[in-house]
Amino acid sequence: WQSLRESILIVMQFAQRHYQKLLQHDQEGLSLGMSYFRERGFTPQTIEKFGLGYSKDDWHDLEQSATKEGFTQEILEKAGLLIKKEENGKVNQYDRFRGRVMFPVYDLAGKVIAFGARILKKDDKQPKYLNSPENEVYKKSEVLYGIFQAKNEIRNQDNCYLCEGYTDVISLHQAGITNVVASSGTSLTEGQIRLIKRFTDNITVLYDGDNAGIKASLRGIDLILEQGLNVRAVVFPDGEDPDSYVQKVGSMAFKDFLKENAKDFITFKAEMLLGEVKTDPIRKAGAIREITNSISKIPDSIKREVYAKQCAELFDIEAHTLLVEIDKILIQKG
Ligand code: UTP
Ligand code: MN
Ligand code: MN
Ligand code: MN
Ligand code: MN
Repeated sequence: WQSLRESILIVMQFAQRHYQKLLQHDQEGLSLGMSYFRERGFTPQTIEKFGLGYSKDDWHDLEQSATKEGFTQEILEKAGLLIKKEENGKVNQYDRFRGRVMFPVYDLAGKVIAFGARILKKDDKQPKYLNSPENEVYKKSEVLYGIFQAKNEIRNQDNCYLCEGYTDVISLHQAGITNVVASSGTSLTEGQIRLIKRFTDNITVLYDGDNAGIKASLRGIDLILEQGLNVRAVVFPDGEDPDSYVQKVGSMAFKDFLKENAKDFITFKAEMLLGEVKTDPIRKAGAIREITNSISKIPDSIKREVYAKQCAELFDIEAHTLLVEIDKILIQKG
C-alpha cells in the first residue's frame, strides 16, 4: 500500500526514464530532441547529469507506455502527466507534454517531482516552456531547479548563484560553475530562500540582461535581504542570459566577467537607480528613498550602517541623513 505522494514519485520516475530513453534511443527523439540539445552546446555527459529527455509528438505515447506497466490513468493525471477533459459528457484525456525537450526537476534528495518542457521551435501560439502543475509532491514556491546537483558545491563555495532559467543552470555546470540554481522564471519566494539558507548565507543573483530580468532581480533582492542573507548581483549585457553568455565567451572569460562585475546589492541597485534619475533632484530623492527602504530590510544593524555609508557616498549626501531616514522606517514598522 502506498501513499499518494509515493505513487506520484514512482510514476514521475517512470516518466523521466521514459523521456530519457526516447531522447537517447528513439528515432524521433534522436533527430529532434538530441539534435536540439547538441545545437545548444550540451555534451552527452551534461545531458545525462540532468536527466534530460524528449516527449514524442503524440497524444498518448506516455499514457500507453505507463498503463502497460500498470500505472493507472488516475495516478498519471494526479502527477500532472495526463490531462483529463470532459466535454458534452465525453471524457477526453491526453499527454500533457508532447514534442518537447524535457527538463526533470529534482528535489533535494534527487527524486523527480516535476518537469519543464521546452518547445523546439519558436511558436507564437504555444508557451516556450510548459511546466508540471502543482500537486502533493510539487510545490513550486519551495523548489529550486538544480538544487540536487548544486547543494554540495553551494556549501563548499559558501555561495549560491541564482539564475532565472533551466538552461542557465545547465550551461554553467558544463562550464564548471556548479553552485548554481534557478528560480525558473517565477519571482523568488521565501521558501526558495530558506532552501538556499540551509547551505550558505551568500547569494549572487545572475538574472537576464533584459528589463524583466533586472526588475525581477531588484524585487528578489529585497526579499533575500529580509531573510538576512548577503546578496550580490551581476548584470549581463543587454539581451544575454548566463547560458547565452557563457556559450558565447567560454568558461574562462565568463568566470572573469563574474569576478569583475559582481556587485553588492546596494551598489547594484544604486547604480541602476542613478542611471535612471540623471540630474533631476526630485527623482534623485525618490531613488534615495527607495535605497533607504532596501537597507532598512537588513536585520543586522552593523551591516545597515555600513551600507548606509556606502550608499550616501554614491548619492553624494550625508550618511547621517540616510541613517535618520532608516531609523524612521524601522520605527514605523515597530
Ligand atoms: P527565459 O525566457 O529567460 O527562458 O525564462 P530561458 O531559460 O532563457 O530559456 P531558453 O534559453 O530560451 O531555452 C526563464 C525561465 O522562466 C520559465 C522557465 O523556467 C525558464 O527557464 N518560463 C519561461 C516558463 O516557465 N514558461 C515560459 O513560457 C517561459
Ligand atoms: Mn550559514
Ligand atoms: Mn528572460
Ligand atoms: Mn533566459
Ligand atoms: Mn536562455
